[in-house]
Amino acid sequence: MRLAVYPGSFDPVTNGHIDILEKTSKIFDKIIVAVVHNVSKKALFTLDERVELIRESTKHLNNIEVECFSGLLANYLRDREACAIIRGLRTVADFEYEMHMAMINKRLIPDVDTIFIMSDSSNIFVSSSIIKEAALLGGDVSELVPEIVKLKLEAKRQETI
Ligand code: PNS
Repeated sequence: MRLAVYPGSFDPVTNGHIDILEKTSKIFDKIIVAVVHNVSKKALFTLDERVELIRESTKHLNNIEVECFSGLLANYLRDREACAIIRGLRTVADFEYEMHMAMINKRLIPDVDTIFIMSDSSNIFVSSSIIKEAALLGGDVSELVPEIVKLKLEAKRQETI
């Protein structure tokens, strides 16, 4: 079975992430979305909230699982017997960081390759951080995130008022 892992912070999941999953779910037999517990990044949503939002937003895809992980991605890939890492690429600004990540992961687990997928041009500027900022300041992000994420962002905004 061709199993790929799509790792990330997903704080929160955006239409850009969903776009990547819709494209790659046709290529792989199964995809595990691996939500990372990153101690160095302050998250808006808890791990459980992020997992739930991804599950709700990917109900239309039948080969997606969502899990949390912490520690080294290479170890997680080995445990899950994954054959590929999925990462989205938006602009050239993403490239250098992504290249370094792909190279260290290749060194740590040579059997696994990183597959880069370009998101649609409509999602090229969509990032979790820009969406959080816009939404918490009252901006309309309804075309950039799944409906459930929009509602949760609105609830977070109410908590901060
Ligand atoms: O969505 P993000 O925050 O850009 O995702 C980055 C992520 C989670 C893929 C990356 O930080 C990661 O893989 N973290 C796990 C630790 C690890 O294995 N790092 C790379 C080798 S040092």
